[in-house]
Formats: sequence, structure tokens, C-alpha cells
Amino acid sequence: MPAYPSASFPAYRMRRLRRTPMLRRLVAETRISADQLVWPCFARPGRRQRRPVPTMPGVFQLSPDELVREAGRAVEAGVPALLLFGIPAAKDERASGAYARNGIVPQTIRSLKREHPDLLVIADVCLCEYMSHGHCGIVRTGAGGPRVDNDATLDLLARSAVCYAEAGADLVAPSDMMDGRVRAIREALDRQGFTDTPILSYAAKFASSFYGPFREAAESAPRFGDRRSYQMDPRNAEEAVREVALDIAEGADLVMVKPALACLDLIHRVKTTFGYPTAAYAVSGEYAMIKAAAERGWLDERAVTMETLLSMRRAGADILITYAAIEVAQWLREG
Ligand code: PBG
Repeated sequence: MPAYPSASFPAYRMRRLRRTPMLRRLVAETRISADQLVWPCFARPGRRQRRPVPTMPGVFQLSPDELVREAGRAVEAGVPALLLFGIPAAKDERASGAYARNGIVPQTIRSLKREHPDLLVIADVCLCEYMSHGHCGIVRTGAGGPRVDNDATLDLLARSAVCYAEAGADLVAPSDMMDGRVRAIREALDRQGFTDTPILSYAAKFASSFYGPFREAAESAPRFGDRRSYQMDPRNAEEAVREVALDIAEGADLVMVKPALACLDLIHRVKTTFGYPTAAYAVSGEYAMIKAAAERGWLDERAVTMETLLSMRRAGADILITYAAIEVAQWLREG
């Protein structure tokens, strides 16, 4: 426990250390470095395609050639990693595009690795972008209506993860929230010889309304119902800690809390409870809020972006996943 000063003589003056920029720099407890940034991006089929995402100004669906070029900007700015999502040419009820050898994600990974071998490629593992119904797993229709079949989904997730590792992904990041997926993915990777491929688990992922713009970007909105039967209830914190504990027990190497701003309490709890490398995902809605207010001149985009990222670092996040990663890295260079 730190010792707290008493208010008695000699009077403790908090402002002594705030007087000049250099003093403030000397005593700053938290820093943001480009080393901590991950840039999420969306790959779509084709060539020379740059489709803007209307609700996320500055974010595009990119064909592999364009994505590789944009990744070059990330490398130049000093961003060490990207998080890759795929938008397939066709969707079906088995998400076959997710684990097709020549699907959009493996194809993009191979292009990225040819051009930027050192840039870490984190492949998101989920089925919603590849399912005609937009859910994160196999849907069965029974007496009680449609439901997502947990165990039948695990095999497809594991196949997807192996497929991305084969293409050269440095890490895989399951975001589906099926129970047991980390274990299923770990076992499948190990069986195929990918014992060194780490798993970044979306461990505490809430059913959040902040994902709206992402679903437009990834064309993955569910056609019916919502994701509340598999993603977490925002009312629950103890359960989030249990989710993280399970994922670690199943073999997660890094854990994520998502969304970030609305879950700073959990970033802190997860980091202090487990001490694992912890990622905060500043999700699409967080990005969109800042962009929208900045476009109207209501907020200073750069200052607010940095302040929010700082709050995630202060809460305990080691890794910051943000759509603004490249700009942030450039701002850090400018100083
Ligand atoms: C896929 C997935 C989602 C996000 C990351 N992976 C959407 C969802 O769960 O509906 C959200 C990311 C964001 O909003 O930026 N399951």
C-alpha cells in the first residue's frame, strides 16, 4: 500500500510537480507507445478496392493489394501488429468462407507476409462474417426457435484457426464467445504442428451496442435475434472474471476485454487478477463517437483519442486495439 500524505505541516502541495511540462513528463505514470498498438482492418475480395465504411470515417474495406499497401503505412508509423477481418465473396450456413484454403483471410495473410514479413498478423477467428444469417456459430432451429449450437461450432472455429496459421498468421484471436473454443483451437493448432502460435482470446466480450458500425464494416449483422445468448451481459463483472479464468485455463496466451471504454473496471480487474498480457479493444462505436463529434467541431479528435487510450493504459491494458492506430502512431512520432 502506498503511504498517503497527511494534510498537516509541512503542507503537501500537489501542484509542485505539475508546474512545467518537463516536471509533468518526469512524473508521468502512464505512457502510450506505438509498440502497444494494433490496427484492425477489413479485407474484401478484388483488386484496387477501397470501400469507405460510412459510419467509420477513415476506415475502408480493402482488397488484399490495397490492404498490403495500407499495412505499409502501419509499418512505417511503427505499429507492430494488425488484426485482420475478412468479408467473403459469398456467405452460407456453414461459414465455408471462414476456413477455405484460398478464402479472403488466408489470401490476404499470404500477401501481407510476402510484403511485410515482420508485421504481426493477428487473424480474428469468428464465423459471423461468413454466415448467411450473421450469427457467430451454427444455427439450429428447434421448438424454442433458432439457437446457436455451441459444440457443433467448435470444429469450424478450430478449422478456421488452423487455416489462418497455415497461411502464416502470427496469432489467432477467437471472438465468437462459444464455450470451449480456446481449448478446441489450441488442440487443433497443436495437432497440426502450430504449437508456437499464440491465442489472443476475446475473453470478456460483452453483447454491446458499440459494435454497430463494425457490423456495417464487416457486413456481419445478425439477420434475426441478437448475440445475447453467447456474448456477455453488460451487467456482469464477476462472470467476466470467470470467463477470463476459463480462457486462461484452456490455453489463452493473451486476453482481451471488449469494449474498452465501457469496461475500464474490468480491464483493471483482469490485469490485477491474472497479470496476463491484457488487450483493450476500442471498438467501432467508440471510434465512431469521437469521429462524429470531431466532425462537428464538438471535440478535439486527437486530444480525446489520446485521453481515451490513456485511460485504458491507466486501467491496466498492455495492448491497445484501435482503428486510429496508424494516426496515433504518427501523432506519437510528431510528439
Ligand atoms: C465478430 C466481432 C465483432 C467485433 C469484433 N469481432 C462484432 C460482433 O461481435 O458483433 C466488434 C468490433 C468492433 O465493434 O469494433 N464476432
